Amino acid sequence: MSVPPSPVDKNWIVIPDDFPGYPLSQFIIPSHYRDAVERVLIPHGLILDRVEKLAYDIAKDTEGSLTAICVLKGGHQFFADLTAKMKKRTNAQGNNLPLHLDFIKVKSYHNTESTGNVSISYTEQELKGLKGKHLLLVEDIIDTGNTMVALLAKLKQYEPASIRVVSLFLKRTPLSNGYQPDFVGFEIPNNFIVGYALDYNEHFRDLDHVCVISEHGKAKYAE
Ligand code: HPA
Ligand code: MG
Repeated sequence: MSVPPSPVDKNWIVIPDDFPGYPLSQFIIPSHYRDAVERVLIPHGLILDRVEKLAYDIAKDTEGSLTAICVLKGGHQFFADLTAKMKKRTNAQGNNLPLHLDFIKVKSYHNTESTGNVSISYTEQELKGLKGKHLLLVEDIIDTGNTMVALLAKLKQYEPASIRVVSLFLKRTPLSNGYQPDFVGFEIPNNFIVGYALDYNEHFRDLDHVCVISEHGKAKYAE
């Protein structure tokens, strides 16, 4: 007898709102950040384990070759670790996966419509080069979803063969536009997280564990 999927059956790790995290005292936290974060939400080792599984899942779901595009800057650590693992995996045909690596810088700005808009670093020539390619966009976090929806709309105009999105984090926020990536590492509560290349005003990219920023940290690094 098949059971209909419950709303909690998701193909990723769900960190519940009441998850307390881990005390800072039980991990190595750089001294310059010790008062700027509240708790460890996801230890670095767990991130790497989850990234390895994502690499495996994406590779076996891929026919032929793949152009992996890192969405800068926050996606760079995830991209490096993910592609390192994907190189060692096999695609749907059981062959090693030919990987092309590319980088895009995306700036979102919001107009009066709720969809937002983006400006991207690709030249017109680079955009035209996407035609017929199988793309994988590698993003650190989906929050409102507005940036990704606008980026996808823009890239689709250049007729890639396919576009899939992997995001390491998906935030549960009332501001979400409902967009869900093809692959997700962790669904997280509506907290501001830093570490593993995710920043707050360019700080915390050198922190390995993913932590919840503290009120003191927000004030210390405010712009
Ligand atoms: N951390 C870092 N960058 C972000 C976040 C976050 O929680 N949400 C959207 N961008
Ligand atoms: Mg990002």
